[in-house]
Amino acid sequence: MRQAGRYLPGYRKIRKTHALTELIADPVLGAQVATEPVNRLGVDAAIVFSDILVLFGKAFAMAEDGPRIKKKMVEPEDVRDLTMPSWSELAFVYDQIRLLRGRLDVPVIGFAGGPFTLASYLIEGGQSRGLEKTKAFMFTNPTAWGMLLDKISQAAADHLRRQVASGAHVVQLFDSWIGALGPADFREFVFDQTDYVLAQVTAPRIYFGTMSAGLLPEISKLCAEVISVDWRVDIKTAWDTVGSRFGVQGNLDPSTLTGRPALALRRVKEILDAVRGKNGHIFNLGHGMLPSTPPSLAKQIVDLVHTYSS
Ligand code: CP3
Repeated sequence: MRQAGRYLPGYRKIRKTHALTELIADPVLGAQVATEPVNRLGVDAAIVFSDILVLFGKAFAMAEDGPRIKKKMVEPEDVRDLTMPSWSELAFVYDQIRLLRGRLDVPVIGFAGGPFTLASYLIEGGQSRGLEKTKAFMFTNPTAWGMLLDKISQAAADHLRRQVASGAHVVQLFDSWIGALGPADFREFVFDQTDYVLAQVTAPRIYFGTMSAGLLPEISKLCAEVISVDWRVDIKTAWDTVGSRFGVQGNLDPSTLTGRPALALRRVKEILDAVRGKNGHIFNLGHGMLPSTPPSLAKQIVDLVHTYSS
């Protein structure tokens, strides 16, 4: 997660001359950025270099402190005016996937944002702590909320299907902020559209959320093959909660990679020990790689996972 990013020198160099949105919109540069961690770290898969917010087309901009949506969704009527980009406006993503397939031997992961997480950016206008505006919109205007999620989920499903048709082996649905909801609201306000997106995809599907430990019984009703969890849940508990239908992905705290290497390496072993014998565990971070991560420690961790679990 944020496998290609600001902790890598090659990425930082390209970012000196290109904005994030320019990088994403250029299939050749995007493929170059997506390839760097595979070559440098030896990770087992490449993730397309894009962002969940490309689905909002030109309404999405990246400021110093994070993403911005140019026109926030405030009134229920705003939902009607929302237009999602046509597939041809996102062709750069599909072109990048074709380039990656020609260049890499490892699987390529396509992705989209989860309907709730995407809606939260439209309503909040950017990053937000408690997602109060999103929840107020959802609770006050359930009909408009349903229409909004329908629109977003249709676009996310189309985007994933096109990525698979272009060569992505696997897809991941990033529902990063889903942990803001309790189980009853997850069931009532977001389950159907989230499940719809996943159901439209024929490739293996990974569903990811942070702070989602309390939602795992609901999440394990989604049509996915793998559930990805953050570090706030004990990995063995996650395995026991989601049941045998799923693989589990996770869950090293990315902050451990910015501290003492010995502790980070011990935590990796603890996770691998805890999932020993669990068929279908995918070792991963619990959320995105932080800019202050030393690439050398990231490489040491990849190597340790390979040797210790072989
Ligand atoms: O290597 C990869 O993981 C693939 C590329 C990728 C990006 N964004 C590029 C990016 C992926 C998979 C995403 C997903 C994404 N984008 C999510 C879901 C995963 C998560 O992290 O929770 C979310 C919520 C977004 C929205 C977004 N984009 C935020 C909140 C930010 C700011 C975060 C930050 O660390 O500054 C971005 C910017 C972003 N997207 C960067 C990258 C590499 C940093 C860009 C830069 O300044 O160079």
